[in-house]
Amino acid sequence: MTNRKDFAVAINDVKNTLQFLDETGCRGFDCSKKSLEIVKNWGNKKTSSPETLEKIRIDLGDCRRCKLSNDRNNIVFGAGNSMARLVFAGEGPGSEEDKRGEPFVGAAGKLLTKIIEAMKLTREQVYICNIIKCRPPGNRNPLPDEINACLPFLKRQIKAIKPNFICALGTFAAQTLLNTKIPISKLRGRFHDYMGIKVLPTYHPAYLLRNPIKKRDVWEDMKKLMKEMGINQ
Ligand code: URA
Repeated sequence: MTNRKDFAVAINDVKNTLQFLDETGCRGFDCSKKSLEIVKNWGNKKTSSPETLEKIRIDLGDCRRCKLSNDRNNIVFGAGNSMARLVFAGEGPGSEEDKRGEPFVGAAGKLLTKIIEAMKLTREQVYICNIIKCRPPGNRNPLPDEINACLPFLKRQIKAIKPNFICALGTFAAQTLLNTKIPISKLRGRFHDYMGIKVLPTYHPAYLLRNPIKKRDVWEDMKKLMKEMGINQ
């Protein structure tokens, strides 16, 4: 430690680590010899294992952290390339997704597949997930406590995948990731930042099914994303 600036950086690192632990559900640890040894070895390459989607899925388990678990059939964790450059984040599973345990496999999912393919990509090349992993009854909007219970896992997924781009589909995905209440109509079509990742909000495919005229706006947004990703149009 050489000066005040280094000290401030170190304090900030500790703060970020504690915040990350809090978000992942850690509520403290004991001071046993074993625990202290683990803490001492944090950041040591030989002992710290990298975050993986498999590990996150195991930690999620048969999640009962919020009331949505009472009515769900399947947790919809996310699907696709674990090293994707581009992540699509939607709102939450619908009935088809709940039945199959896969994201975006219903009517809105079919439209999302078309959008992905129009971008000269495949579903296998990208990663697809949602802000919440269980279907709200009757497809109602997710409630703040449900989002808060689920969000730490999505944040870990994003951290594990390390994408360069996130396409936030619809109000809930955009407002949650960007921690804002600005309407999607104002957020869409330009890049925002989430932890150094470029986030492009656009309208949700389910909204497009109800308002086909907005497809034109989404295609304009996707062209911007393709350009930024270096995909020839
Ligand atoms: N809508 C979403 O937001 N996500 C899905 O997985 C399906 C529909």
